Order: sequence, then structure tokens, then C-alpha cells
Amino acid sequence: MDIIRAAVIGAGQIARVSHLPAYRSAEGVQVVGVSDVRPESARKLAEDFSIPAYFDDHRKMLEQCRPDVVSVCVPNRFHHAITLDALRAGAHVLCEKPPAMNVGEAEEMAQTARAQGRLLSYGFHLRHGENVRILKDIIDRGGLGRIYAADVQWLRRRGVPGWGVFTDKSMQGGGPLIDIGAHALDLAVYLMGYPEVDYVCADMFNAIGTTGRNGFFGSWDPERYTVEDALFGQIRFRTGAVMKLSTSFALNMKEKDRRQVTLYGDKKGADLFPPAVYSGDDGPAWNQTYPFEPAEDLHTKEIHAFVAACRGERDLLVTAEQGVYVQKLIAALYASAESKKPVFC
Ligand SMILES: NC(=O)c1ccc[n+]([C@@H]2O[C@H](COP(=O)([O-])OP(=O)(O)OC[C@H]3O[C@@H](n4cnc5c(N)ncnc54)[C@H](O)[C@@H]3O)[C@@H](O)[C@H]2O)c1
Repeated sequence: MDIIRAAVIGAGQIARVSHLPAYRSAEGVQVVGVSDVRPESARKLAEDFSIPAYFDDHRKMLEQCRPDVVSVCVPNRFHHAITLDALRAGAHVLCEKPPAMNVGEAEEMAQTARAQGRLLSYGFHLRHGENVRILKDIIDRGGLGRIYAADVQWLRRRGVPGWGVFTDKSMQGGGPLIDIGAHALDLAVYLMGYPEVDYVCADMFNAIGTTGRNGFFGSWDPERYTVEDALFGQIRFRTGAVMKLSTSFALNMKEKDRRQVTLYGDKKGADLFPPAVYSGDDGPAWNQTYPFEPAEDLHTKEIHAFVAACRGERDLLVTAEQGVYVQKLIAALYASAESKKPVFC
């Protein structure tokens, strides 16, 4: 087996807890370099994971290390430029989610990957869950019938990230929608088969982020909180199906964290967390649940699957084009919430 040379750009939280342990546990992968604009962060990560070289400039690293695969683990604002650099240097790229700050960037990233003949995937790691595989299989076999409605949620009571730049709109492009709502949307539209969007309506609020300061992910500075803390939207597809989306970093609600994708079909309905199928029939199919391990390490599964795709052993599960679709939905939801008008797509 040829050795795959991996490199990581951005030496923060997701690189440390997910990408590097996963590359380290993948067979036939050698991490050859790490870079960060803060050289101290790169040095510390290199030391902790026994990586032979660290850099304060990713272009220098790409030139000197010549990696086969690159993980882009920087704030959203830099996803586009760094991904283009890595693709043009000949690497396959796994860029963290969301794809980018806007649709134009996501399209250029997909187009550059195609032009370079390289793979580009995004860190929508929840897609690798067994629950998703189970439900997708049921849907593809027609088990739910025509899906005409969906209720999609990722809500946190006080889950504003207390590290990094997640509350800074200029660095991340938005708050819970682009950060965690993006995961929920990605799951839902994958299961629904990427129907064409007709129009989108959304409202967003900033009721807690600018006044509170403490939550279960640490504290934040309310004076520098420039993203929404909750967004509620409705998407209408050209198939006639509708989707309700709710997402928050902070909301006065019962649970600490509520994550769900519910699909309503004309044969059956389904939940994703945990996977279950419901119908109005009497009998054993009334409430059908499936064996499911919620504690699967999905970041590791994602990175091992990415490496296997780079070796040509399987297809990518999360493609650059799917990333563009999700980015378009995010953009339309923000545009509607900002203008307080429906946005026709
Ligand atoms: N898949 C997931 O569930 C998940 C979870 C957390 C974060 N993320 C994503 O990962 C990315 C990073 O998040 P994080 O939590 O690791 O943030 P972080 O703030 O902990 O780390 C980001 C790192 O990038 C470095 N950096 C900033 N600009 C850079 C540049 N131009 N070149 C090189 N390094 C640069 C910073 O110095 C920092 O060390 C974000 O896009 C975020 O959305 C995804």
C-alpha cells in the first residue's frame, strides 16, 4: 500500500480532537506537516502528534511537504483561499464545514477541484453515521413513499462556542445556521435527494448572544457577538415538499441540545436520531426502531472514508457539488432573514 502524505492547515480545536487522531489511526497515512498563522499553535500540535515539520505559512508547507491530502481546519473566512491553494498544489482536500462564506466561493472551490482532477470533500461528519445509512437505504427503496414534509432542528439552549471566532460574522459568515444548522440541513437534503428549491422564508434573532455571556461551551464576549443566536426558516421545494428548519446557539428551551431530522412521507414517517420509522398501520411496523450506536466516532469514520476515496477504493460520501447545494440554501435563508422577505431561488 502506498503511503499517503497528509497535512493539516489550522492547528485549532478540530485539528487536534478530530483530524490528527483520525489520520494517525488510518492505515498507511503519514502526517508530514501542520501550519497555522500562529506558529506557536502549529509547533505545539506538531510536538504533541510527532509531526516532523510545522509552518506559519500554508503555501510554504504545500511547497516543501508536497502532501497528497490536506485538511483545511481554519475559520470559515479562509476556507476558500486555502482550499484553492491546496487543490492547485495537487492535493485532495477535506475542508471543514461549512464549505465557504458564500455561494460564489463554494462554486469556485468545486470548479477548481474538477479542473485539477482532485477530490474535494467537506467536514459534514454526521453523514457518516449508521443512522443515516439505515434511513437512506429505507428511503431509496421507497419505504417512506413520497416525502412531502420535513422538520429539521439543531437547537442549543446555551451552546455558543466559547473558543475561536464563532461569534464573529466577518470570520464565520454567520452563527448557528452556518455552523450547526448546516449539518442538519446537509443531512435532511441528502436524505430527500437534493430537490430543487422553489423559495425560502426565514427570520433570525439576536436575543441572548448580545446580553448573556456563559454557556456549556464556555463564555463569550456579548459586545463582540455579531451573529444571529437563532434562526427559523421554511423551505419550499419545486416537488411541492416543505421543510421547516430551526437552529440556535442560545434559546430558552427545555433541553440542553436538540438535534432531529423528521421526515413525513405518504407511506411512512421517520426520525434520524435515533433512526425510527412510523406509520399509521396497526401491527409490527407501527413504530420500528433500528440497532444504532450513537457514540460512533464519526470524525474518524469521515477521515478514513476520505483517505479511502483518495486511494480510489470508494466514492466520496460528501461531494463538492453537495456542498454548493447546502451553501445555496444557507445563503437564501440568510438573505430572507435579512430582507424579511421570501427569497425565490
Ligand atoms: N465538523 C464539525 O463538527 C466541526 C466542529 C468544530 C469546528 N468545525 C470547523 O472547523 C473550522 C475551525 O474550527 P476550530 O473549532 O478548530 O477553530 P479554532 O479557532 O480552534 O482553530 C482555528 C485555527 O485556525 C488558525 N488560523 C486562522 N487563520 C488561519 C490561516 N489563514 N491560515 C492558517 N491557520 C489559520 C487559527 O490560528 C486557529 O489555530 C471552522 O470552519 C469550523 O466551522 C467543524
